[in-house]
Amino acid sequence: MSRAVRRLKDALRPARNVLAALCGFGYDFSRYVRYAGWRGRRDRRKKDYKAVKAYHRLEKSLSFRQRRQGSGWDAAGDLVRLLSRGGFDAAALGYHETVGIKVLRDFVAAAPAEAPRREVSEFLRRAALWPAEGGVLELSAEALRAGRLDDPERFFLSRHSVRDFRPEPVPQALLERAVRLAMKAPSVCNRQAWHVYQLDRRESIDRALALQNGNRGFGHEVPCLLIVTADLRAFDSHGERFQHWIDGGMFAMSLVLALHALGLASCCLNWSRGPLDDLALRRAVAIDGAHTVIMLMAVGYASERLKVCYSARRPLASILTHLD
Ligand SMILES: Cc1cc2nc3c(=O)[nH]c(=O)nc-3n(C[C@H](O)[C@H](O)[C@H](O)COP(=O)(O)O)c2cc1C
Repeated sequence: MSRAVRRLKDALRPARNVLAALCGFGYDFSRYVRYAGWRGRRDRRKKDYKAVKAYHRLEKSLSFRQRRQGSGWDAAGDLVRLLSRGGFDAAALGYHETVGIKVLRDFVAAAPAEAPRREVSEFLRRAALWPAEGGVLELSAEALRAGRLDDPERFFLSRHSVRDFRPEPVPQALLERAVRLAMKAPSVCNRQAWHVYQLDRRESIDRALALQNGNRGFGHEVPCLLIVTADLRAFDSHGERFQHWIDGGMFAMSLVLALHALGLASCCLNWSRGPLDDLALRRAVAIDGAHTVIMLMAVGYASERLKVCYSARRPLASILTHLD
């Protein structure tokens, strides 16, 4: 390539980036329009996500030290109307909906002085036998402190992105334990819109990694590849248009730390790709259309002797501004 052509390409790069970003925004917008929870009243999964949004208002009300007399009944009514939509069918309830019933029951029990609204008491009579978990827990501060690490620096500072794995497979039980631990990550209204796709077969991993641009030199040895996604169906208001990336990112971080706590190494792999690559990944791996890819993650046991990037950290003063 001649110098003049290279210079021209360099000069055009910013404009190309902006145009490509525009395509990316368009693609994200079209996925939001197609999959997010703002429409599709008959979609059971969207209804289930709406249930968690509704019952979470009740759970919060139950957890407040000082509850206002009469508060929460509007939220209870909203929840009942949502759960009854299309006729109450216990067998067809989603997970969040079953939790909603438990929370509703706890809410009524916690306000004995307040006569339950008729729609609420009638609904609970119909759903009387439904077992579920949810509500509030009474805890001591000591119970929370039980999670304190004796040496947090040892845990956090011994985590590194690993790009040199032993060939042995990741035990399934250990991987599932890590995902279960990561599921304790906070999420907006506890919607937990995460979904993880796991690939262990060499051909499947290679096919997915061929579309990713940060695994050259080590991708061919990754023994387990996770694709962390978040379900757009869980988000129904315009203000939540970026929420799936935020919740998905927090889950991914939780997963990285859970893997580290269990002795497994990982390396996040960016999915900072354009629409065409995203569509190609969806052709290569059976990813639900409503699931947004947050990142890929290489997982495995680190080699016995390995090198990792130093990855120097900025000074604290450039990160933390103490205003008052
Ligand atoms: C969202 C995300 C995407 C990343 N993508 C890549 C990648 O494509 N390839 C890679 O080798 N490392 C990738 N990394 C790892 C970073 O390079 C690494 O986290 C950073 O350099 C800090 O190093 P440490 O994780 O060892 O502390 C990614 C990290 C994050 C959080």
